[in-house]
Order: sequence, then C-alpha cells, then structure tokens
Amino acid sequence: MTAEADSYDIVILGGGSGGYACAFRAAELGLSVALVEKDKVGGTCLHRGCIPTKALLHAAEVADTAREGEKFGVKTTFESVDMSGVHSYKDGVIGRLYKGLQGLVKSHGITYVEGTGRLTSPTTVTVGDRVLTGKNIVLATGSYAKTLPGVELGGRIMTSDQALSLDHVPSRVTVLGGGVIGVEFASVFNSFGSEVTIVEALPRLVAAEDPAISKQLERAFKKRKITALTGAKLTDASQDGDVVTVTLESGETVTSDLLLVAVGRGPVTDDLGYAEAGVTLDRGYVITDERLRTGVPGVYAVGDIVPGLQLAHRGFAQGIFVAEEIAGKQPAVIEESGIPRVTYCEPEIASVGLTEEAAHERHGEVSSYEYNLGGNGKSQILATQGFVKVVRAADTGAVVGVHMIGARMGEQVGEAQLIVGWEALPDDVAGLIHAHPTQNESLGEAHLALAGKPLHAHA
Ligand code: NAI
Repeated sequence: MTAEADSYDIVILGGGSGGYACAFRAAELGLSVALVEKDKVGGTCLHRGCIPTKALLHAAEVADTAREGEKFGVKTTFESVDMSGVHSYKDGVIGRLYKGLQGLVKSHGITYVEGTGRLTSPTTVTVGDRVLTGKNIVLATGSYAKTLPGVELGGRIMTSDQALSLDHVPSRVTVLGGGVIGVEFASVFNSFGSEVTIVEALPRLVAAEDPAISKQLERAFKKRKITALTGAKLTDASQDGDVVTVTLESGETVTSDLLLVAVGRGPVTDDLGYAEAGVTLDRGYVITDERLRTGVPGVYAVGDIVPGLQLAHRGFAQGIFVAEEIAGKQPAVIEESGIPRVTYCEPEIASVGLTEEAAHERHGEVSSYEYNLGGNGKSQILATQGFVKVVRAADTGAVVGVHMIGARMGEQVGEAQLIVGWEALPDDVAGLIHAHPTQNESLGEAHLALAGKPLHAHA
C-alpha cells in the first residue's frame, strides 16, 4: 500500500472503550479512520473487565436467590456452582457483544488494523511494516492490573485477568485491596461459596466513596460473613504447595487457596514511542489539557491512560469528545465530577458528584439527608437495606452529590446524574412524581425530605 493510501484523518491506537467510541463518532462525522488493536476490539471492558465481571456478579445473585428462596416462601435448594456453566453463560454474553461490535466497526467504514502499534512520529503509527499516517492521532492504549513490589503474580497469586476464568470455586480467597475490583470479586466469591478475607491498607473499604457508604458496605459484608481487614498493610505474600499466605504489618497472617491482587490499574504507555514523540508522561499517565490535547499538535489521549476515573463510560465520552473536537464541533469540556460511578457488589453502590467532605471543601456550608431504604416499599420487597444520601450546597441550594447503596441501586444512577448534572434544587426534584413502588422512589423521597416535605420519612 502506498503511504498516501494509508493516510487518514484520524489514526487511533487502541480499540477499547475510548478508542472505538472515538472511531465510531469520527466516522459518523465523515472523517476517515484507522483503528489499531493488538488483541480484540472492545478491550478490557468487554473482554476482561466490566462485562465479564458483571456476568459473574449476576451468576452470584442467582446463587444467592437459590440459597435464600425460603426467605420468600419458595422452597429452593442450592447445590453448587458449576464454573464451566458460569463461563459458558459469561462467554456467551461477551461473544454476542463482540460480534455486534465487530459489525459496527465494519458498518462505520473504519479501517481496522490488527497488530501492535507504536507512535513513530506525531503523525504516524507503525504496525509491523505498515505505516499509518494520521492528520490526527488518538492514544487510547488503556490500563493493566497492577501488583505490588514483592507480590509476584503467578500460580495462586493472580489479578482479575486470571480470576475471571477459574475452573473451580476456591474454598478460601484472600482479596488484596478493598477498592472497586476487590469488593466486586469478594462479593462474587462469597456468593459462590468461598470464605473471603479482604486486606485493605486504608481505614475503610471503597475509600473513594462517601464514608457513610463504606460503613454500610462493611456492615452488609459482615452480615454476609466476608471478613474485611482494614488499615491492614501487607508485608509479604508467599506460596507453598496448596496455600498462599499473606503477612500483614501487624504480624498477622492470612492463609488461603488464592490471593486476588486488586490494588489498582496502571496505564499501558511503556515502549510505545509516546515520550520520544514529545508526549508528556507522569508516572506513565499521559498528561493532557481539558480538551484532551497532549501538547504535541494533533495528538490526543483518551481513557485509562489519562489521569482520573478509570471507567469505560468516561472512555466513551472522551472518545466522542475528541472525534467532535477534531471535526471542529467544539464540544463542551467533560466534567469529571459529573461522571456516575457504580460498584456492582452486593449491595450495590452508586454515586455521582461530590462526597459530603469534598462538597464542604468546594462550597463551604453543606447539608445532607439520608433516606433509609427501610421506608421504600420495593426495597423491602427485595429484602435489601441501604440508603440514598443527598448532599446539598448551602451557597446555591443545589444538589451536588448523590450516594446510594442497596441491592440494584446501580440502576438509579441515571436520575441521580441528571440531578447533579443539571444542578437541580431539591424542590425541582420533589415536584417530579416517582413511580410507586420502585426503588427509584427513594430518590424522590430524599428530595421531598430535603425540600421540607418528607413523605415516608421523618424530617
Ligand atoms: P482501586 O484503586 O479502586 O482500589 C485499590 C485498593 O487497593 C485501594 O483501596 C488501595 O488502598 C488498596 N491497596 C493498595 N495497596 C495496598 C496494600 N499494599 N495493601 C492493601 N491494600 C492496598 O483499584 P481496583 O479495585 O484495582 O480497580 C482498578 C480500577 O478499575 C479502578 O479505577 C476502578 O474504578 C476500575 N473499575 C471499575 C469498576 C466499576 O466501575 N464497577 C469495576 C472494576 C474496576
């Protein structure tokens, strides 16, 4: 192929959430696009992250339902979890979505290039002996599961990558890290029948969330008999025959069949030619301005390699933003604090906007209200506990944060994000009718209470 024929308006390096969203939007806007991917389009989210883990969490919910039928007057028996059955269900979900995504790449008329690409100049990406030239380049190479110095991966010590395809349910699991991945996997393993211990260095689980959420989760996990050791730093992990043993700073040891390391994800930016092309990196992350420009004209970055929330939907939004920016549409800058966050453990956590503490720092005086799901009919029917916490800034009166916990509460994040994104006043939301009986009502009730007219709650 001649160099001219291999020239595009945009060359995108990485076909995960950020990369493919950018490709699709750019194609819709009439730009010519090459998308380079070394593995499978869909990236971490589809093949090793969001989708497979949520399938496991759904299988976990089914196991719990089977176990707890009696609670609802239905006689069920729980026998066991057949991991090969779980995998064929999970892989079926991935397979259908993957096929759909491949179809979308084709129907958008995108040039899909399979192979490992490298940025070889500010306008070229080289894949093998093929040189793709782009008027613009978008870096979207994603992230990998990190480990700690001294905790060597292999055998019984693994990250979520390997834990996704275990062929059996381990009887005892230690989870290192009580962040998002840690609590989701702890939840799955517990429902599948493993004895689970979480080791978290910080004083609480899901430390990025409002402290009230951590407290409720810890209470719920305790009830489920998941042990959470918080404020616990690991000093050593070793494998010996059938067991893996972690030693904590306190001298305490925890022995299990498997150690899942979930201590964060790092950016995939090494040896890709980024620094040589003039792109600024900080601890491996690509530094951009708010318009996702790297500082090298025509080179942008999106997704997990850009510091901030490492979430697929942030990647989608950034990919779309960059495509529109390149097409001259001057899109509005993405507000990181408006991005919704859902953690799919049982009970689920959903939040958007500022925690009470962060709101206090930004706005000065704040007030908050916690609506207990005890007063919510649908949550009682589901036999779940939790709350909706709404944080309001005194200066503007607007809602600046919503924090929710309870079974299925992830589904409520959509309305919460509209409330925070549109800087709604509690009165605005209180005036909207919420369907009864739904868990969605709990959001309405919290705002009714904040507006001074509580219904199924005390003022
Ligand atoms: P994370 O940053 O959420 O949590 C890592 C946890 O490990 C932290 O709480 C940290 O204090 C702890 N830790 C670090 N070093 C430790 C040590 N030496 N001993 C004990 N604990 C230690 O990272 P995680 O859970 O690995 O997730 C990676 C990324 O993937 C996150 O940014 C997350 O947002 C994203 N993700 C999002 C999901 C969702 O939105 N539902 C699901 C899974 C991952």
